[in-house]
Amino acid sequence: MSIFENVVAVPPDPIFGLEARFKKDKNPNKVDLTVGIYRGEDLKTQVLRSVKEGEKILFNVEKDKAYLPMGGDEQFVLESQKLLFGEQFCKDARGTLFGIQSVGGTGALKLAGGVLAQEVTKVIYVSDPTWPNHIGIFEGCGMEIKKYPYYDGENHRLTFERMLDTLSKAPEKSLVLLHACCHNPTGCDPSQAEWKELSMLMQKKKLIPIFDCAYQGFGKGLEEDVWAIRYFASQGHEMFVAASCSKNFGLYGERTGSLSVISKNEQLTRNLSTVIKYFGRVNYSTPPRHGSGIVTVILQDLGLTEMWKGEVEHMRLRIEQKRNELYNALTKQFGKDRFSFLKRRQGLFSMLGIPSKQVDRMIDEFGIYLTRGSRVNLSGLSEKNLPYVIEAIVKTME
Ligand SMILES: Cc1ncc(COP(=O)(O)O)c(C=O)c1O
Repeated sequence: MSIFENVVAVPPDPIFGLEARFKKDKNPNKVDLTVGIYRGEDLKTQVLRSVKEGEKILFNVEKDKAYLPMGGDEQFVLESQKLLFGEQFCKDARGTLFGIQSVGGTGALKLAGGVLAQEVTKVIYVSDPTWPNHIGIFEGCGMEIKKYPYYDGENHRLTFERMLDTLSKAPEKSLVLLHACCHNPTGCDPSQAEWKELSMLMQKKKLIPIFDCAYQGFGKGLEEDVWAIRYFASQGHEMFVAASCSKNFGLYGERTGSLSVISKNEQLTRNLSTVIKYFGRVNYSTPPRHGSGIVTVILQDLGLTEMWKGEVEHMRLRIEQKRNELYNALTKQFGKDRFSFLKRRQGLFSMLGIPSKQVDRMIDEFGIYLTRGSRVNLSGLSEKNLPYVIEAIVKTME
């Protein structure tokens, strides 16, 4: 009898599990619309030119490979916060705004969850639906996961009133996870008026916002996509922001991100900062240095910053183009109403709104991989594979 006899296997990850199946699939026409990685028209994940140039500079200026401090690279954190909050806010809020470098966006969420579960609350509200890993991350922090209604998949719309209703009954000091932009998986974001209403309710009910900002630049633009974060910050919320450089810098495997916290006064922020750094220390000690080094070099060099912004805009526009092409092709087949909601979405993902049985058939019979909730990564579409994807949607609808 083994001492590991009672270990039960965890089911495959809903997204990475499909990716693994895709890799093994022998179908020559297979299409991967699963993992949230930006792909170019050749369906490859490229290293951004600004990143390559940044790496060359880093190679020359980096003196050693010593550990970063527990809080990570301070310059990186500051640059990251300037992108999120704007330069002026960072200056004005100095003392009450704290930031730490994190192991990607996931690491930032985990740090926030760990600290808040220990110090403030064990209840988190997440959108229904949400990125599946949110559930695992916060459960792993010992939190109770509650869901707020977010999206009506049948009628393809935000269920904003129901969201407000649920949150209005949430216990004081509950954590509320908000997708800053390009909601994953729906691609459906609140309007500015709705964000304002939400902010008011959360202040009244003393709820703690935690923004997950993984797709800045992929929706309407680098500035526009952080409108909600900046609005909440301007309204005096005590809040958390978990930011990822995985998508907009294409630094996926370099595990680069940041966690920011705003509290009411400098002493509280200092206290929180020590707890957060301690959490990092006992989990992974210090964050990795290569990705943050590249981002810092890029954002401290005017020319490279412009190059990077151009590349983000290029990615954003290609995603938008793919969305339009998908919409146009579906409209030809099904008329203009059936998929008109696609035009009102933004970011890397949209849910097609087709039943999971049909999704299974698309995977099994056509080798077209999308997640069970019918989420597609739009950048996985190309001029070449789009007709095949449409054919599969039509045939599996029968
Ligand atoms: C909504 C959302 N949050 C966070 C992340 C995590 O990003 P990272 O790879 O930087 O950990 C992802 C990645 O797919 C995501 O989709």
